[in-house]
Amino acid sequence: MELPVLDLSPYLEFSAAKYSGSSANVENQLDAQLKDLCSEVSRILRETGALLVKDPRCSTTDNDRFIDMMEKYFEKPDEFKLLQERPHLHYQVGVTPEGVEDPRSLVDEDMQQKLKAMPKKHQPITPVGPDPKWRFMWRVGSRPSNTRFKELNSDPVMPEGFHEWKETMDSWGYKMISAIEAVAEMAAIGFELPRDVFTSLMHQGPHLLAPTGSDLRCYGQEGNVFAGYHYDLNFLTIHGRSRFPGLNIWLRNGQKVEVKVPVGCLLIQTGKQLEWLTAGDCLAGMHEVVMSNRTIEAIILAQHQNRSLWRVSSTLFAHIASDAVLKPLGHFADSPLSGKYSPICAGEFVEKELAVINLKGKKQHIE
Ligand SMILES: [Fe+2]
Repeated sequence: MELPVLDLSPYLEFSAAKYSGSSANVENQLDAQLKDLCSEVSRILRETGALLVKDPRCSTTDNDRFIDMMEKYFEKPDEFKLLQERPHLHYQVGVTPEGVEDPRSLVDEDMQQKLKAMPKKHQPITPVGPDPKWRFMWRVGSRPSNTRFKELNSDPVMPEGFHEWKETMDSWGYKMISAIEAVAEMAAIGFELPRDVFTSLMHQGPHLLAPTGSDLRCYGQEGNVFAGYHYDLNFLTIHGRSRFPGLNIWLRNGQKVEVKVPVGCLLIQTGKQLEWLTAGDCLAGMHEVVMSNRTIEAIILAQHQNRSLWRVSSTLFAHIASDAVLKPLGHFADSPLSGKYSPICAGEFVEKELAVINLKGKKQHIE
């Protein structure tokens, strides 16, 4: 099964022409074709938990520039990268070395039981230890000056010798947030909610650009798990195309699907905060990243072309603002399932999710 690709251009053009900064209720001016496009966005998110989009503002060149820099960074010796490690700040900025993050399926016994009950061909690969991937955390966007959930007041971490670091991280980060905002507006319209219902909650959220790097020279054997089966606790996650495939997602019907991201496309995945806001109409997408035979093919090609053997994912976690309340919105409040999603501050929700995992595992775990 191949996921369809939606081109955001018609919506972006309409949006630029109509809204120009005002949040007036002009949803009614959408023509039938655009309304259908928005319904497609919400339907695909509901049924698959993932969405492939084309956003002309996020070009292949931008993605390449970002991945080239991250490959150069992850290829540096461990001693160099460890200079950007901030364990005392719980790895919330800078680098997290491989072997620190535990996948939820490794530490959550309830989840392990559920996995055993799945049909064999749809079961995820059970990881045997922590994820063998490095990660770099870079905050994107402004934060509220007055908040109950102050993030650690630490300076951004920049590796020495990477003069283009801040500009590259910020520009790719902002572009990815813009794509998420467009999808969030379209999804809202598709769900028959006000256009800005999600984006207004995202304003000044603790968005995080968090690319990962996996060393395929060490871990390039089929069946290896780079990121064990889990869901993301944020609102929506977006990735540029990785040079090495390997992401599997689970559709709402339980089917496991290997995702193929075409060149020039972005992949968006639903997180737990979106599930909360829609009272489970849209579930948080379960996913894993593993070495597949397609990853091996990509490794062989990269070897022939003398390219880097680090698998970089250009992941950005978009969040609901920490002080905003997560609760089923609009007509979703009347859903029979809304009782499962009681109102909670997004910041408290994130802390609780982390605590559950931290109690079951022993280490700091971030999405
Ligand atoms: Fe994830």
